[in-house]
Amino acid sequence: MRVRDPKLVAALPELGALLEPGTSLAELTSLGIGGTTDLLRITKHDAIPELLNLLDAESVPYKFLGGGSNLLVGDGELPWLVLQLVSPDPDIVLEGRFAQVDAAADLGRTVTFCAKNDLGGMEGLIGVPGTVGGALRMNAGAYGMQIGSYVRQVKLYRAARRKLETLEGDQISFEYRHTSFAPDDMMLAVKLELPSKPYREILKGIRICNEKRRASQPLGQKSAGCIFKNPPGASAGRMIDELGLKGLNVGDARVSDRHANFFVNAGKASQKDMLTLIAQVRERVQKSFGVILDHEVVVWNA
Ligand code: EPU
Repeated sequence: MRVRDPKLVAALPELGALLEPGTSLAELTSLGIGGTTDLLRITKHDAIPELLNLLDAESVPYKFLGGGSNLLVGDGELPWLVLQLVSPDPDIVLEGRFAQVDAAADLGRTVTFCAKNDLGGMEGLIGVPGTVGGALRMNAGAYGMQIGSYVRQVKLYRAARRKLETLEGDQISFEYRHTSFAPDDMMLAVKLELPSKPYREILKGIRICNEKRRASQPLGQKSAGCIFKNPPGASAGRMIDELGLKGLNVGDARVSDRHANFFVNAGKASQKDMLTLIAQVRERVQKSFGVILDHEVVVWNA
């Protein structure tokens, strides 16, 4: 989708939106898959409702991109614009045990920044790629913790009401890789309440999680983390592994040799390759275990 209407292009700077024409989403996603579209980088939260009203009035479809680390995007010329927040400086402000964090802040940097200020709890999230907003929307978690446990307040753009809102933690439900946010809500900032812990102790926890991750996940390769959610009481990775499907491929889309629930782009995989591989694996798991696996990865079709 290309923004061509001169009236729209002229209105963007005042709304704090920077237009980057012809951006490749393969370069903005950890899987390295995705076609091309115009990108609008947003620098002013307060102007978001006006910007989106304008795009709607001009019938320009759009999607919100976080860090692109849990996303499988369609190939070719994409039929919608992509909007992405620009992280302000500073993007994390601490006040006692509370951290006010911009949604565009890098998750790993947030974990280490808080740790250095003796605020722990998020050790398990070290090594999870993406932004704080993306982690919030999916309720990212690992090694027995999930980000939702620490959320006290969220500022967001509520698409259904077309306005900016602030929700208290108890107004949001956080479940396993699922939240009560609507798919078109846009996370803007979050207030976390974190347990006080000495930095050296947090660092120990961070090192343990890093080692576990390095030992079991294909960190150097292009992936979107786990492709499927774990079904209740079972592990998708173990089931796929037990079926001997590590290394199975469709073109350059491949089941990782290291962790069977990570599907990697080993070269020039397309969305179609990856979706075909996902369908094949899902079918094999259903046949053998009678379990229908749910995507964890978010799919944006062209
Ligand atoms: N296993 C295998 N073969 C494999 C992979 C795993 O036998 O190829 C076995 C492991 O040996 C272990 C069990 O399956 O006994 C569980 O594996 P692991 O500890 O790696 O955890 P997981 O359930 O596969 C979950 C999250 C990960 C998170 C880890 C660590 C989901 C879908 N995955 O993986 O999160 O990093 O626990 O807490 O919930 C993600 O969400 O993208 C993600 C990577």
